Amino acid sequence: MVKICCIGAGYVGGPTMAVIALKCPKIEVAVVDISVSRIAAWNGDQLPIYEPGLEDVVTQCRGRNLFFSTDIEKHVAEADIVFVSVNTPTKTQGLGAGKAADLTYWESAARMIANVSNSNKIVVEKSTVPVKTAEAIEKILTHNSREIKYQILSNPEFLAEGTAIQDLFNPDRVLIGGRETPEGQKAIQALKDVYAHWVPEDRIITTNLWSAELSKLAANAFLAQRISSVNAMSALCEATGADVTQVSHAIGKDTRIGPRFLNSSVGFGGSCFQKDILNLVYICECNGLTEVANYWKQVIKVNDYQKNRFVNRIVSSMFNTVSGKKIAILGFAFKKDTGDTRETPAIDVCKGLLGDKAKLSIYDPQVTEDQIQRDLSMKKFDWDHPIHLQPMSPPASKQVNVVWDAYQAAKDAHGVCILTEWDEFKTLDYQKIFDNMRKPAYIFDGRNILDVEKLREIGFIVYSIGKPL
Ligand code: NAD
Ligand code: UGA
Repeated sequence: MVKICCIGAGYVGGPTMAVIALKCPKIEVAVVDISVSRIAAWNGDQLPIYEPGLEDVVTQCRGRNLFFSTDIEKHVAEADIVFVSVNTPTKTQGLGAGKAADLTYWESAARMIANVSNSNKIVVEKSTVPVKTAEAIEKILTHNSREIKYQILSNPEFLAEGTAIQDLFNPDRVLIGGRETPEGQKAIQALKDVYAHWVPEDRIITTNLWSAELSKLAANAFLAQRISSVNAMSALCEATGADVTQVSHAIGKDTRIGPRFLNSSVGFGGSCFQKDILNLVYICECNGLTEVANYWKQVIKVNDYQKNRFVNRIVSSMFNTVSGKKIAILGFAFKKDTGDTRETPAIDVCKGLLGDKAKLSIYDPQVTEDQIQRDLSMKKFDWDHPIHLQPMSPPASKQVNVVWDAYQAAKDAHGVCILTEWDEFKTLDYQKIFDNMRKPAYIFDGRNILDVEKLREIGFIVYSIGKPL
């Protein structure tokens, strides 16, 4: 029986390993983490992350061939294949601060593997890492090896939150990079054999290590670039009277462009797009490729511009001040179907409004008050350095009120902002919301999910990104 251990029980490690366990009943999978509370939650009734379909997969396998544990050393020592899926946040201090990936968590995992191993192992990079990380990991492992042989593989993950289980069941591709030596190829084959339990062979791509590492950064950069492109167009649409949803539809019909990922928004969020592009920019700069670095930097700049533009639109519409005015924020997660708030555009929008002294009433079906208060009190880039940097109970802001109902959020508000595209926001009773708001009543749709004409008939003043005013 093959044994797999995954270090890091987060948004990637948890769902990925649960699906491997489900699809490969003869493989024993242990997911380990330094966070005692996270492991307790994986073993309890309330999983630590909200992801459609995840609970079903976990309950089918947990205790059978899927285990969650804090006994990291034991499970690593016993494993044939060790996945490393720890966080790789942006560095906050020192060389490359604000851009480079912080590999502290990765390095400590690698050193621990070297310390506890007493049999040969395949070590798989699941985290998103800078190109050439495998070389550094190889050095750490071989210099501490005590006769043990390691093969390093790069197997980046492409799942998106909210659709993680679907993405894992039916991936567009699985990418495995390894050394071009016979041992490297043997290791690639061993990992291929795991995925081949459910992924068609022609969707399992193998490359050298550096291509696999770079492809992950490239994929995220291309995806984010598409959103910044459509968001840049949204500003031009507003200036000219064009409608960005019509433009997206028209260009998406070109099969070379394709229809997906062309939704204009208040800006992209999530734990990875910004971090991975900053990492790519840093690698380009380190290689003297200034023009290439500047090209990708622009994707982030347009994203920041889009978030600022949204805040400015709100403030300028409301007679140039929101001071003391109640504004309802509907949606705080970075996208629908997740409770994840990492780098959510809602943080920047809320901070912008708070800076103008607005009173916010926030509702999101999956995000807790604690999380929202913590996000709004944290400095940029601190959020993904969980253990030592996050204040345990941040001071609750008097300007921020978190409620459990959209109607309550909007009651007596001057404006409503849609910041996450939750389906339930499409079917709210907007007449009721209007009746209970201050007048003039504004709606700012940062996700283009509402029927602008209907809202205008009710009496709202509506701003929808990239649409005629
Ligand atoms: P996460 O923060 O949710 O999970 C990482 C976990 O690793 C945490 O629970 C942390 O406690 C644990 N950890 C850190 N150091 C450890 C150590 N030395 N030993 C044991 N556990 C340790 O992060 P995530 O969202 O799962 O992302 C993990 C990696 O996957 C990142 O590199 C990210 O870029 C990449 N990725 C994320 C997604 C996504 O949708 N979130 C998708 C694809 C790739
Ligand atoms: C993204 C990628 O889609 C995954 O392939 C990748 O594995 C992952 O990053 C990662 O490396 O972490 P994720 O961030 O979970 O996945 O979610 P996306 O669906 O990509 O959305 C990212 C952000 O872009 C969200 O804020 C979303 O609302 C926004 N978005 C997305 C738009 O504004 N417009 C779109 O058309 C699509």
